[in-house]
Amino acid sequence: MPKIKVSGQGECEFDGQFSLLDALDEAGFDMPYSCRGGNCGACEVRLVSGDVEEIQDPVYETDSGYILTCSVIPLSDIEIELV
Ligand code: FES
Repeated sequence: MPKIKVSGQGECEFDGQFSLLDALDEAGFDMPYSCRGGNCGACEVRLVSGDVEEIQDPVYETDSGYILTCSVIPLSDIEIELV
C-alpha cells in the first residue's frame, strides 16, 4: 500500500479509498476541501515527491507540481505539503 506523508503532520497509508482526500480524511488529517469534485481548488496541495493518477477530470487547473487531493490517488509512496 502506498504511504502518504503530509509534511510536518504525519503519515498514513492509501488503502483503496476513492481519492487521496478520502484516505487523508479517514486517517484523521484536517485537510482543506470544498466541492470534492475538482471544481474549486480548495484541496490543492504541493506534491513534494511520488506519483499520482487522476481519478476524475478536474475543471480547476493546478500549477505544475500541485495536485487536487479530491481528484487523484497515489501510485507510489508520496509526500504532500499543505499550501
Ligand atoms: S475539493 Fe474542490 S477541487 Fe478538490
